Formats: sequence, structure tokens, C-alpha cells
Amino acid sequence: MIKDFFYYEPVKLLFGEGALNQTGEYASAYGKKALIITTGTFFKESGLVDRLQRILKKSKIDSVYFSAVDPNPLHTQIDAGAAVAKSEGCDMFIGLGGGSAIDAAKGMAVAFGHDRPIWDFCIGEDVQVISAKTMPIIAITTTSGTGSEATQWSVITNPSSEEKPGIGSDNTFAKVAIVDPELMASMPPKITASTGFDTLAHAIEAYTSTASTPITDMMCEKAIRLVGLYLRRAVKDGSDREARNGMAFANTLAGIGIANGVVTVCHGLAHSVGGVCGTTHGETLACMTPQTFRFSMRANPEKYKNIGMWLRNEYFNEGQDLLEDSLEEVEAVINDVGLNVGLRALGVDDKHLDKIANGVIGYMGGSIEIDPMNPTKEDLIQILKESM
Ligand SMILES: [Fe+2]
Repeated sequence: MIKDFFYYEPVKLLFGEGALNQTGEYASAYGKKALIITTGTFFKESGLVDRLQRILKKSKIDSVYFSAVDPNPLHTQIDAGAAVAKSEGCDMFIGLGGGSAIDAAKGMAVAFGHDRPIWDFCIGEDVQVISAKTMPIIAITTTSGTGSEATQWSVITNPSSEEKPGIGSDNTFAKVAIVDPELMASMPPKITASTGFDTLAHAIEAYTSTASTPITDMMCEKAIRLVGLYLRRAVKDGSDREARNGMAFANTLAGIGIANGVVTVCHGLAHSVGGVCGTTHGETLACMTPQTFRFSMRANPEKYKNIGMWLRNEYFNEGQDLLEDSLEEVEAVINDVGLNVGLRALGVDDKHLDKIANGVIGYMGGSIEIDPMNPTKEDLIQILKESM
């Protein structure tokens, strides 16, 4: 029997080497003046921002550049970007970069469109609905991770409350997503590894969540096979075009996976760890995926046992213990791309664990509700301890 499901993915997706050159043609339907958002000035210095501005100009789109965004975008930076867009008369937001830049573009489009601080849409008793007032968003991804170009999700950090919620609605999908593997060629090995592991975590979690759909299950399977084939190669040799191309596709497929199947306990924990300790997303996931996998795998063994087989790009699993075998394959990826460190090495201390667990329950509760094992607070703390 095919499971009953709901599926929604309203993004115009342009994939391929050189796709950046067509950004203006696709974006011109949505605005006349864009705020281009990057995380820091690297892409200004590399010439990519100037190149994008020239491409936009050919389609009669003016643009302004905004780079004051942290790798974990702060709510105050979102509000600052929205204010610049207002004073410059922008009517469209282009995120150029990894998930941070694209998430920031989404947040600014929400804050600008509703004329309210972004935190009003994040947490609290009076949390605001993200309506169709949200301004148009264009996503240009330069990493093979986060999947943000294909999702409605935007992750916003509040350093004073140490919270890092994921927000989104049907109105925060990008109008257009540009996935150009050429833009990923200069990604250093460490970022290739951590963003690539984020892709694998998305595919595993969207596939095993109780919100999974038959359509996204197919996409997650393909994403996991592509990660198995290409992540190690992309980390070892960034100029390997076939590997970059494969990881770019895996990232987008897994992004569509989490747009519908969402994420489970590992991402719930990783958001809260990031909020409390300021850790990097992909590395945090790599620390905790073995333990969350082990915790949840017996709640849906039929699905979890496929993951190892797919990572080997095989079709028949002849291992003795299929679940343990699957977990070992995931651990092998983590080891081979140099992400085999514990949470303690990322700066997490025993004194943080209670606050981290409370954060998951407080603002990432959906991730534990749709986890097949539905963990309690005690379970969360145990997983954290075993991931130190
Ligand atoms: Fe993620």
C-alpha cells in the first residue's frame, strides 16, 4: 500500500554548470531591485558579487549588496538587512552563499514584507504567522549542504536567549533556486565535508521521519546513494567536477526531502546545541548522528537498514545484522571525511546539556514528535552524553 501523503514544492529550480548566468532571466518576473545577501565579504572579494550584479543588470534588475551576516544569522542582522532594503527601495531578496545567506534572505523577506522584527515570527506566545506579505526570495547556493534553496526553512539565532529556531511557511520558499555546481568548486575540504554531511543528515531524517512521503523517500534514496558515491571524492579533490555535480544534486534532493518530510531528533538537538554553544551545523550533526541513529533505528528497522546499503550504492543487503551494518556505513562516512569528533571538542560542556534539551522541547518540538522513537527529555540528555 502507498502511504497517504501531502507534498508541496513550489520552487523553480535551475540546475547545471553555468546556471548562474540565467539568474536575471528568471528573477525579472519578481522584482526590479534586489538586495544581494552574502555571509561576509568573501564573494565580493572573489568577484562573484560583481558578476551576479552584471548578470542581473542585463535583465534590467538593479541591486544593492549586504554582507553583515554571521554564519549563524542573528535576528538583529536580519532586521538590519530589511532596513537597508527599505531605505534602498528593494523589492526582492537574493541569498548568495550557503544556508546562512539563503536563510538570511528568507528572514529579511519576511521582516520587510510584514514590517516587523523577524523575532516576532520565531518564538513566543504571540508568534506571528508568516503570510503572503513575504517578499520574493531568490536562492543561489554555493555549497552542497543545507538544502535551503529548496526548502521553506530559515534558521535564525538569538544570542541573548541562546535560541536557534527554524521558521518557515508556504510563503518562504524561494521563487527561483539556482544550483550551479561551478560555484561550489572553490569550497574548501572542511566546508565540503560539513555541508555534505548536512545533506546526508537531511536525507536520513526526512526518510525516517513519520512525516516522510513516498515521493521524498525516492529523493532521499537517491541523495544517500549520491553522498555514498561522491562526498569522499569531493572532500579529497574539490576540482572533481563529477563529484561536485553529484553532491549539488544530492543537496537539492535532500532539501526537497526536508521541505516535506522535515527533520527529526538529530536536527532538533543540533539547532539547540548551536543556539547554546555557537557550534557549526554540519559538524554538530556529525557528532550526534551515530547516537540518534542508534536510538531511533529500532522504531523503523525496514527503513534504517536501507541506509547503509544505499551508501554503498547496492541493491541487495547481505549483511548479518542489517541495522548495525547500516550504522557502521554512516560512521565510516563521518570518519572518512574527518568529522569524527565529539561534542566536547566543539565546546559543549556537561553544564549545557539541560538547557540544550529544554531548547529542543521548547522550540524544536516538531522534530521529536515526528522522530520514529519520539524521545523524552531524559533520552535527549542521554544522546547528548553519548555524543560528547
Ligand atoms: Fe541541516
